[in-house]
Amino acid sequence: MAHYTIAWLPGDGVGKDVLDAVRIVLDALRLDAEYVPGDVGWEFWCREGDPLPARTIELMKNTDCAMFGAITSKPKTIADKELAPELRNKGYVYRSPIVRMRQLFELYICKRPCKAYPGNPLNFKEGIDFVIFRENTEDLYSGIEYDRIPPEMLKIRGMEKVSPDAAISVKVNTPKGCERIIRAAFEFARGNQRKKVTCVHKANVVRASDGLFLEIFHTIAAEYNDIEPDEANIDSLCQWLLKKPFNYDVLVAPNLYGDIISDLCAQMTGGLGFGASGNIGEHYGVFEPTHGSAPKYTGMYKVNPIATILAGRMMLEWLGETGSADRLEQAVARVIKQGTVKTYDMGGKDSTLDMAHAIAEKL
Ligand code: IPM
Ligand code: MG
Repeated sequence: MAHYTIAWLPGDGVGKDVLDAVRIVLDALRLDAEYVPGDVGWEFWCREGDPLPARTIELMKNTDCAMFGAITSKPKTIADKELAPELRNKGYVYRSPIVRMRQLFELYICKRPCKAYPGNPLNFKEGIDFVIFRENTEDLYSGIEYDRIPPEMLKIRGMEKVSPDAAISVKVNTPKGCERIIRAAFEFARGNQRKKVTCVHKANVVRASDGLFLEIFHTIAAEYNDIEPDEANIDSLCQWLLKKPFNYDVLVAPNLYGDIISDLCAQMTGGLGFGASGNIGEHYGVFEPTHGSAPKYTGMYKVNPIATILAGRMMLEWLGETGSADRLEQAVARVIKQGTVKTYDMGGKDSTLDMAHAIAEKL
């Protein structure tokens, strides 16, 4: 087994609780790794004007991958007020650290498996098993935004109709960005005996950017004769996912639609306590639960760590530790099926760490 160096980034709120749980299972698996803690989160915004300090980015560059807990993001008005007085009005702008990590390290795949583990009373339906491939670096997450339209932009065709005091956010879909996520979805489908890839879009209205995504989808789909190409408008998909969940296998979506369906799909397979994410690029990966920082539960060791433990499983898989990854998934599945250890979301009273120990015992 190789030796790994893993950036350990708990972040805010329950981030530390759930990462502590992951350490219990990774230690039980005897993963040969050094875990290097890094600063990220709201307190670093307030104190330093940067929730993802440069030293943390450096640390990440010197590690194989990162485990990330959760982050508290607040709207601009609150963020500006909580910034240290000496840093105010100096041009500091809050940007979500996880979004920055995805862009800085070109983690263009956000892979989110949505699997209803048998026996979970929270499953919407037994047997649901699909995987979301969310584009992770562009689209409405481009960060190109204006509180008021810059005057030079008003000269562009069509903009004369827009009131100058409008706020605008630019949705950017590049051919390269579309192609790499769509190809990743088809490659995954082919390598994992999946039959169908559904392209999620709104190309009937958002004709330029989503139109490009859809066009590239069909071009790439033509190279994969063994996989059925399918497409759905984001709105209609939300209805069909609930009506016919077994019609879906692999879903590929631009960033924002992928974000939205992630929570819907997590809820169909047990809720946010079960939703794991892998942010994956060519050279680096950041693994995290899909849920947020749940500030009111900070340090109470109450939340369900399964989402983060399954993110740990994805990390093991990405590192090539497939044996450990499989053992971990089977242990999670056994604990869920047995139903004796349950966190509050599952209707039980067991703690975050009780759940981690129960999983570790089944390894
Ligand atoms: C997610 C989260 C993030 C996102 C937030 C925390 C910035 O909702 O990973 O789904 O919008 O991508
Ligand atoms: Mg989200």
